[in-house]
Amino acid sequence: MICAGRSPAAPRAGVLSLPAASVGLPMPTIVFERTRHVAHRPEGGRVVDVCDDDLRAGVPFACRHANCGTCRVRLTEGAELCDPPGEDERALLTGRFRDPPDVRLACQLVVRPGEGTVRLRVLL
Ligand code: FES
Repeated sequence: MICAGRSPAAPRAGVLSLPAASVGLPMPTIVFERTRHVAHRPEGGRVVDVCDDDLRAGVPFACRHANCGTCRVRLTEGAELCDPPGEDERALLTGRFRDPPDVRLACQLVVRPGEGTVRLRVLL
């Protein structure tokens, strides 16, 4: 709730301070399409950590080291907000699975800090 006449930057003592997304301000958001889980990560970070923090993300993992492909996801939005794949990740995705560039390993995927939305679709 936003009260007219008060700055949202100066909440009163005892008044709940809402995260920026709650009041319509842009912030990094990760959307897991299968489960419709939404995670807000202003600082960016590793997607595997987001999934570990809240199992509602619904991404399956096995090796967590770019060896098995269990965590393959399609980036349907926000690829430009993510670090590029490393050598091991790209080798697995293009060599073994022959995936297109929009497929990534959630165990290796890192979202950069900044504004925008990263949207993931689990392939398994
Ligand atoms: S969990 Fe095995 S490649 Fe990601």
